[in-house]
Amino acid sequence: MGAPPDRDVERIVLAQVMLPTDANGQGNVHGGTLMKLADTAGAIAAMRHAGRRVVTAMMDSMTFQYPVSVGDLVVLDARVSWVGRTSLEVEVSIDAEEIVSGVRHRTSTAFFVYVALDDAGTPGPVPPLEPRTTDERARFAAAEERRRFRLAQRQR
Ligand SMILES: CC(C)(COP(=O)(O)OP(=O)(O)OC[C@H]1O[C@@H](n2cnc3c(N)ncnc32)[C@H](O)[C@@H]1OP(=O)(O)O)[C@@H](O)C(=O)NCCC(=O)NCCS
Repeated sequence: MGAPPDRDVERIVLAQVMLPTDANGQGNVHGGTLMKLADTAGAIAAMRHAGRRVVTAMMDSMTFQYPVSVGDLVVLDARVSWVGRTSLEVEVSIDAEEIVSGVRHRTSTAFFVYVALDDAGTPGPVPPLEPRTTDERARFAAAEERRRFRLAQRQR
């Protein structure tokens, strides 16, 4: 069975309840737990767009603006913001929701760059991203700016 033609392949939402194994002894969820979930969500969005497997090439710095606790529902929203020849940028936001009250806080936003791999394991081409709305075009332009900065850093 093929994929439905109208599925929004560039965006996914992943949600997971935080358990004691995700946290320290005080019940605060580890930053590394959130980073891993963000990378997972970002990679899924990238793979769905690319139609290929991907590897994480880099991630921008991630700050944690709100503490996440055991029992919270972590909601990760990952969307492809930019696509090059073989690489893709994905923006991932992380919210923490108190399940009973429904109160939500944004804890982080981060950008990941993935590289699609062909069957030989080398970077392979991905379909272009066509930003449709004003918001998508603005995100694409901002991503191009970040890419210029990353490539300059990589050269250094
Ligand atoms: C990521 C990796 C495939 C890049 O290989 P490479 O030979 O350097 O590839 P290239 O120089 O041809 O670059 C491929 C693309 O990635 C981009 N890229 C590579 N490193 C980058 C970085 N640090 N920042 C931004 N973009 C980067 C390039 O600009 C290029 O994009 P484009 O094709 O859209 O123009 C390789 O470094 C690798 O395998 N790294 C290990 C990945 C890994 O194990 N991740 C963790 C587990 S998933």
